[in-house]
Amino acid sequence: MKGMIRIRNLEKIFPSDRGPVRAVQGIDLDVDEGEFAVLLGPSGCGKTTTLRCVAGLERPDGGSIELSGEVVDSAEEGDFVPPERRNIGMVFQSYAVWPHLNVYQNIALPLAEGRRRIPKNQVRGRVQEALEVVRLENLDTRPVTDLSGGQQQRVALARAIVTRPKVLLMDEPLSNLDARLREQMRIELKKITMAIGVTTVYVAHDQAEALSLGDRVCVMNEGKILQIGSPQEVYSRPPNLFVAQFVGEMNFVKARVTGSGQVDSPLGNLRCEVPSGCQAGCDVTLAIRPEHLRFLHDSDQNCQSVEGKILLKTYLGDSALFEVEVPGLTLLVKLPGDADVSVGQRVRVAMPADRWFVYP
Ligand SMILES: Nc1ncnc2c1ncn2[C@@H]1O[C@H](COP(=O)(O)OP(=O)(O)OP(=O)(O)O)[C@@H](O)[C@H]1O
Ligand SMILES: [Mg+2]
Repeated sequence: MKGMIRIRNLEKIFPSDRGPVRAVQGIDLDVDEGEFAVLLGPSGCGKTTTLRCVAGLERPDGGSIELSGEVVDSAEEGDFVPPERRNIGMVFQSYAVWPHLNVYQNIALPLAEGRRRIPKNQVRGRVQEALEVVRLENLDTRPVTDLSGGQQQRVALARAIVTRPKVLLMDEPLSNLDARLREQMRIELKKITMAIGVTTVYVAHDQAEALSLGDRVCVMNEGKILQIGSPQEVYSRPPNLFVAQFVGEMNFVKARVTGSGQVDSPLGNLRCEVPSGCQAGCDVTLAIRPEHLRFLHDSDQNCQSVEGKILLKTYLGDSALFEVEVPGLTLLVKLPGDADVSVGQRVRVAMPADRWFVYP
């Protein structure tokens, strides 16, 4: 089904001592059935608020939300379907598991109360199924307080999917785990959501997490969505300076447009694709990814380049990262493998014209 989640012109304003805070400012978003969408953005940009509106935990001040074709919230029409009737599972950053209950009891809880109650004789089967999905089948009688952070997070996930929700909402669910476990759980989360086919909206402020998990990534800032696209689109075509700064490593260079496809910069006169809106005399910011720079051998004279000195080399195993001092700034250069250059050496850095992003 297309449009499992359909958000139109969502607005949320919070009152505060310093006046109203416009936490969400006119967001449009469609998430298809089975899709994994990630909301990515800095602290305070409105990710949690958007998620809570979808869950029905927050009433929007404007716009509408539909879940599988049903309007669950419309500020204008006054429609509102309460959270417990939205067929949604939620996982939060804090695991929010009950410390006085064991694993089984925690997961069974949503099946025992309210609208999602199911006949008692079916509970064990459903809990067992959820336990298998998160691979905790042997720990069902453990007190949750005896579990590791990663295991507790699995309990929270099992509890969210045990009701077989149509939509799963996750708000930075891995941020309390240490780096290694976070990476393992990230892969596992993706597998689990794919296996059960649930439509997912996932909040992240870590770009690596967003790029690796999302079928689609929505980059947010100040209550707005700045770009929606596949991880590849977001990484390879950031539409504005904010996205360029927020997603992935980037080198930035201040420059001034001197003519069509020409700019003047501390690195000299450069050829690059200048947006049509930028006339000669316009100040622009150039951006280029570290992996698109390389060191030039003397024989290779066709590419524009700048001379510099290696300040630092960081060996990363599969690649190496170099800080290169060039006129007016330091460039980051990332090369596959271990390039045969060392600190203090002078190098020419090649800057392919078609790799520059140019922002007004
Ligand atoms: N209950 C509230 N009362 C007043 N202001 C709020 C409330 N909840 C959120 N805000 C404000 O709304 C804005 C968006 O908050 P939100 O929690 O959605 O951000 P976020 O993107 O989830 O950030 P983080 O990454 O830090 O979790 C912030 O400026 C926040 O201070
Ligand atoms: Mg948040």
